[in-house]
Amino acid sequence: MHLSESVTQHLATLRDYIRWGASRFNHARLFFGHGTSNAVDEAAALVLHAVHLPHGLPAGYFDSVLTPDERLEVLGLIERRIAERKPAAYLIHEAWFCGLPFYVDERVLVPRSPIAELIEGRFSPWIDRPDEVADILDLCTGSGCIAIACAMAFPDADVDAVDISSQAIEVAQFNIEKHEVEVQVRAVQSDLYEELQGKRYDLIVSNPPYVNREEWDSLPLEYHAEPRLGLESGETGLDCVRRILREAESHLKPDGILIVEVGSSAEALEYAYPGVPFCWIDFERGGDGVFLLTAEQLGEYRDHWV
Ligand SMILES: C[S@@+](CC[C@H](N)C(=O)[O-])C[C@H]1O[C@@H](n2cnc3c(N)ncnc32)[C@H](O)[C@@H]1O
Repeated sequence: MHLSESVTQHLATLRDYIRWGASRFNHARLFFGHGTSNAVDEAAALVLHAVHLPHGLPAGYFDSVLTPDERLEVLGLIERRIAERKPAAYLIHEAWFCGLPFYVDERVLVPRSPIAELIEGRFSPWIDRPDEVADILDLCTGSGCIAIACAMAFPDADVDAVDISSQAIEVAQFNIEKHEVEVQVRAVQSDLYEELQGKRYDLIVSNPPYVNREEWDSLPLEYHAEPRLGLESGETGLDCVRRILREAESHLKPDGILIVEVGSSAEALEYAYPGVPFCWIDFERGGDGVFLLTAEQLGEYRDHWV
């Protein structure tokens, strides 16, 4: 008997297929970290997508039996996840960020920044008058997830969503329209600040590429399915971050703040700029390597950025 026949004969419910998928994923030693952190959640995302059900499905439905067609559909997705080693988000073209669904494909990184937690809290306590925030810049926007979530959290603000990649800008624009925030969010194809001459912001937020070349080479295959331009940034991982720091002050209002994720390159950053009082943000839901500097500090340490 063919494997798929044996599986579809013996497994019946949503719960069965999620359990089986998770076991297959663990056996195949897949990597998780692109929206889910374990095999069960990754399998659930694929199984629920295959049967057109929402990811927050109430537990009672997990005992419902799949039709023969649905079983084959589920099997197909689980086998693709193993064979192609692409994050589930690319197979189902959806990733969640700040409680919002975003269209994703291989033109953009799968959204997963811990900055989501800051957006949901409207950057408290660092922004003490959120209703007065008028201009936000999301540098290196990818799918547009940070820019769009910021627009929702700050409904009176204008948001510029910048990316150097024309393909990423296409995806960001698609998501801007999907979430109907065209009036608030502008997608701009630009090499960092290049197309933003003279513009100043209350908040610059960025999840730029920050992986060093050696680390990129050793990343699991799932990361290699993502655009390299979105991850790798030179020998030390800091090429892009250095440029962000250099010009941030001239694009911030006097009380503005800069928030940048540097993840695994936090130590390299401290080493590159000794004495700069980077404020490293703590997250309740996990994640690290995100720093904050005020416009005032950026001015004070101006000589360091050159
Ligand atoms: C780590 S991804 C982040 C995407 C998105 N902000 C997120 O959190 O999911 C970095 C993005 O930076 C873009 N990028 C790389 N170099 C850039 C540059 N010099 N100027 C603007 N964007 C750049 C890449 O195209 C990629 O979309």
